Amino acid sequence: MVGLKTLFARQLPKMPRDYIVRLVFDRRHTSLAILDDRVDLEDPDYRGGDEDIIGGICYRAYPDMKFAEIAFCAVSANHQVKGYGTKLMNLVKAHAAKERIEYFITYADNYAIGYFKKQGFSKSISMPKMRYQGLIKDYDGGTPMECYIHPSVDYKRTNEMIAAQRKFLLDQVRKKSRSHVSYPPLVAFKPDLAGVSRSNEGAARAMAIPGVAQAGWTMADLLLATGPQKDAERQKNQIKSDMLTILRKIDEQQFAWPFREPVDTTDVKDYLNVRILIYHLICNAIFWA
Ligand code: ACO
Repeated sequence: MVGLKTLFARQLPKMPRDYIVRLVFDRRHTSLAILDDRVDLEDPDYRGGDEDIIGGICYRAYPDMKFAEIAFCAVSANHQVKGYGTKLMNLVKAHAAKERIEYFITYADNYAIGYFKKQGFSKSISMPKMRYQGLIKDYDGGTPMECYIHPSVDYKRTNEMIAAQRKFLLDQVRKKSRSHVSYPPLVAFKPDLAGVSRSNEGAARAMAIPGVAQAGWTMADLLLATGPQKDAERQKNQIKSDMLTILRKIDEQQFAWPFREPVDTTDVKDYLNVRILIYHLICNAIFWA
């Protein structure tokens, strides 16, 4: 406990030391630590020190309200970003789930928000306010975050659970996908192009490659991507883009405002004739500008 208090003080320098001591040694708080495996707690000469502690979490449970507040969470500097923080959190969640805790709440240090998010914490608090109001204090410089402890999740076996889910998903994908089927290399590739027009030759060659048709490609897809249709499509897009540029330029003109909103032709009967004339004048002005 002394080592844990020293670790928290070192890793959370903004926290007042006496506050850390008070909470770690408070009987209503529970602490969990991961110790270096060289530590022998049965050894009568063992005095303990923070150098033996890899990381720890200290929390206070409110059993009536079925939630707990994490007060401190830290991993020693030379063991950070090696997965110990995740291991610690999972062990604490497993322990809390046994005590029927439904939510963890914490004031996350702004630098540690990313870590808490990866442990399933979120900034939106879904637990009804009446359950925690008056029980937890507000801290400056911290962001309140919450994590729901799912009763049916075995947090000690999350790695196996995720690996099993990943395997299941990949198996399902493999049942449908053919991306794992490999075809022999093309030694001398000479497709039979008899009767194929010159403009369709590229698409016909691609279609003849073993595996292309099996992957779901059709001649129409390939023609769109390679043949004259591709040029036609490009031309169509070019014309559309040119016309849009002209329209935008017209719209930007100082005197184009009467055309920006449609005019009700039931109110202004001869509007269409007048409009065509004015439009013509504006286009001329742009052309000569
Ligand atoms: N910001 C963003 N992401 C982080 C951070 C961080 N500060 N720390 C770890 N992560 C990410 C890791 O990259 C990793 O991502 P991955 O799963 O995609 O690879 C994931 O979180 C888990 O990392 P772990 O290796 O399990 O975390 P670690 O052992 O480093 O412990 C901890 C994280 C406790 C925040 C540690 O860095 C630390 O002690 N920091 C200093 C003290 C601190 O800030 N404590 C929290 C204060 S708030 C409070 O106590 C209530």
